[in-house]
Amino acid sequence: MTLVLGIETSCDETSLALLAGDGRIVSSVVASQVEAHRRFGGVVPEIAARAHLSNLPPLLDRTLEEGGASLHDVTLVAATAGPGLVGALLVGLSEAKGIALGLGVPFVPVHHIEAHCLSPFLDNSGGAARPVPDDFAALVVSGGHTHLYRFQRGRTALRARTRDDAAGEAYDKVAKMAGLGYPGGPVVDRLARSGRAKEPFAVPRFSDSSPDFSFSGLKTAVRDRLASLGRAPQTGLPDALRTLNEAAAPAPLRDLLAAFQEAAVAQLLDRLSRLVDTEPFAVLTVSGGVAANSLLRERLAAWGRTRRVEVLLPHLSLTGDNAAMIAFAGLVRFRSGKTGEGLAAIARSRWPLESLE
Ligand code: KG4
Ligand code: ZN
Repeated sequence: MTLVLGIETSCDETSLALLAGDGRIVSSVVASQVEAHRRFGGVVPEIAARAHLSNLPPLLDRTLEEGGASLHDVTLVAATAGPGLVGALLVGLSEAKGIALGLGVPFVPVHHIEAHCLSPFLDNSGGAARPVPDDFAALVVSGGHTHLYRFQRGRTALRARTRDDAAGEAYDKVAKMAGLGYPGGPVVDRLARSGRAKEPFAVPRFSDSSPDFSFSGLKTAVRDRLASLGRAPQTGLPDALRTLNEAAAPAPLRDLLAAFQEAAVAQLLDRLSRLVDTEPFAVLTVSGGVAANSLLRERLAAWGRTRRVEVLLPHLSLTGDNAAMIAFAGLVRFRSGKTGEGLAAIARSRWPLESLE
């Protein structure tokens, strides 16, 4: 019987999961390090690597215990090999290789972004994963990525990427400027929903009609409007964080955040519409931390209905970094015989997904 152990340590979440051969999540444990990094206003690589090191052993025990399994039941090991913070990646990758070697079972190095793209096929309520179709488009929106891919017959092609900030990064920066703390996505999402986008921001377009994304102009426009509201942008110093209590956010700030959120979501949908107009696809997955955004989820559902595209979103518990998606991507690769470098895989901070065989 297949039992996949997945390990994810590419950034600030230490996560382990067990997956059955049909893609059912047997157990999944995620330990967030947000508190350890909060006072720095972002992820500190050295702190992340050390935290992974101390988190891993107890989390492995917990994952096995919750899955009612012993380490010897594991038949396949998968771990994130990149892209990510090299020091952080090394911790999970080395642990995973050691376990695979010790057990004498295969090891599959996993591309973190490929795993996000596949995460919407997982079921979070104890069911089997959906079969991964031969052809689909995938939008990954996280703190580090805003990438649009096309998966076709085992090959992956990049169709658009951000030329500057990632969508989640824009949320984090806007939150920081408004003194709303880190990470910014959830709090900006909540405040935006209680405001009205009275003065919209434009959706950027490139003069060469490239479908690429850009969020830095929007961020600057928000900063200027914040200043005109009399809210001097925060400098990002640790003591400048968390200066504003969410409940005390004034109405004009909520309206400004609503306009920001409308523009951010509109840009994502604009690029999706362009892609489906130029090369039709029937299935779209949207994944990564920003896939938790309430407005994006709503708009995507409507967009999918009008465009006749089946839009698959990960369960909210699977939008952020998690090892269930790593185990799943490892299983899919193992089944297709494309396990890359196996035990020879190294940790990679940069690793273009389209370069994978
Ligand atoms: O995928 P993820 O957990 O980590 C990586 O960046 O790989 O994504 C985290 C990002 C952060 O930038 C966070 O602010 C954003 O996802 N995020 C959101 C929401 N929840 C998390 N952005 C917008 N709306 C949300 N509800
Ligand atoms: Zn991620």
